[in-house]
Amino acid sequence: MIRSDRVATALLTGEFAADVTGAATPLSAADAALTRRSVRAYRDEPVTEAEIARLLTLTGRAPSAFNVQPWRFVVVRDVDTKAALREVAYGQKQVTEAPALIVMYADIEDALAHLDEVVHPGLPAEKREATMAVVRNNLGAMPPEARAQWANAQANIALGYLLLIARSEGFDTSPMLGFDATRVKALLDIPSHATVTAMVALGRGAEEGFVSHRHDVARVATFR
Ligand SMILES: Cc1cc2nc3c(=O)[nH]c(=O)nc-3n(C[C@H](O)[C@H](O)[C@H](O)COP(=O)(O)O)c2cc1C
Repeated sequence: MIRSDRVATALLTGEFAADVTGAATPLSAADAALTRRSVRAYRDEPVTEAEIARLLTLTGRAPSAFNVQPWRFVVVRDVDTKAALREVAYGQKQVTEAPALIVMYADIEDALAHLDEVVHPGLPAEKREATMAVVRNNLGAMPPEARAQWANAQANIALGYLLLIARSEGFDTSPMLGFDATRVKALLDIPSHATVTAMVALGRGAEEGFVSHRHDVARVATFR
């Protein structure tokens, strides 16, 4: 198991990627957060459908307002489709280098059309109906663009989960927003009303990625 003290030492020396990539034991959330980097070169090792399904199952544990879960995923492993996506992602090499690409999008219209799926099945029928009415009234009152943006904010919670869980499970990722969303949607038959949250290249890294730097807590937080 990769322990936090080892990770802390590795962070100082910058020598940890080989240690934790493909780790048999999942990294803790803290260790995954400390060691995750954007990785843009990948080993030629496939990621199986079962592995991706596990990552997406865990990603789906992300919370969302009203539990509406508007995130949707298209998993791309087909070489030709990845090549087409690379073209609409300004040629970013990680799109084709990674064995898998997860295109995440938010579809609030689909979520609203199936609210019965997200309201807790254990609730009595009248409470379920009342809960669905609250959600419908709240989101229905928004203009469609605002509703789409609201859903995308929820989907970004899942994006954070996916990046962290992938790292925890021994994978590397590269999140991307650098693409032409209209063309991505056309290529993958994603509904035009949906918002593409991100593309995530996924695989086992062939590089360590840049050492990232972050704000100190004192710069971004106040305690009262
Ligand atoms: C939503 C999002 C979109 C991003 N888009 C791109 C992108 O299109 N291309 C790219 O090379 N990196 C992209 N990045 C990576 C960021 O530049 C990177 O996360 C940041 O510099 C911190 O580095 P780290 O991920 O290695 O910690 C994106 C990251 C996020 C979270």
